[in-house]
Amino acid sequence: MPKLTVQNLSGLEVKVAEGQTLLEALLQGQGTDWMHACGGKGRCTTCRIVVLQGMEHTAPLTAAELRYREKGRLQDNERLTCQCTLPSGEVTGKVPEQTKLPHMSYSS
Ligand code: FES
Repeated sequence: MPKLTVQNLSGLEVKVAEGQTLLEALLQGQGTDWMHACGGKGRCTTCRIVVLQGMEHTAPLTAAELRYREKGRLQDNERLTCQCTLPSGEVTGKVPEQTKLPHMSYSS
């Protein structure tokens, strides 16, 4: 099954089921919290992840992501976890500095 690794959450590994967004996979039963201010509707960009490896395995950008790319609010190495799915392969990413949650502890 496709897998997401989050480098600065101590290498947390999350399995991503078919059709599931990265955010859904992250929030599902592992005691992990991830900022998602608009509730996963593609309207805020607070759920973004910096992709370090494996961008080629992610599904194409959604309309919401394309809109933020055009506005310069989503960088080439970033995806919105509430939009992005992972049909196959593995992705490694990290939580951006600006969206770290105060009650979570992050590794370097
Ligand atoms: S949670 Fe708002 S864009 Fe993803």
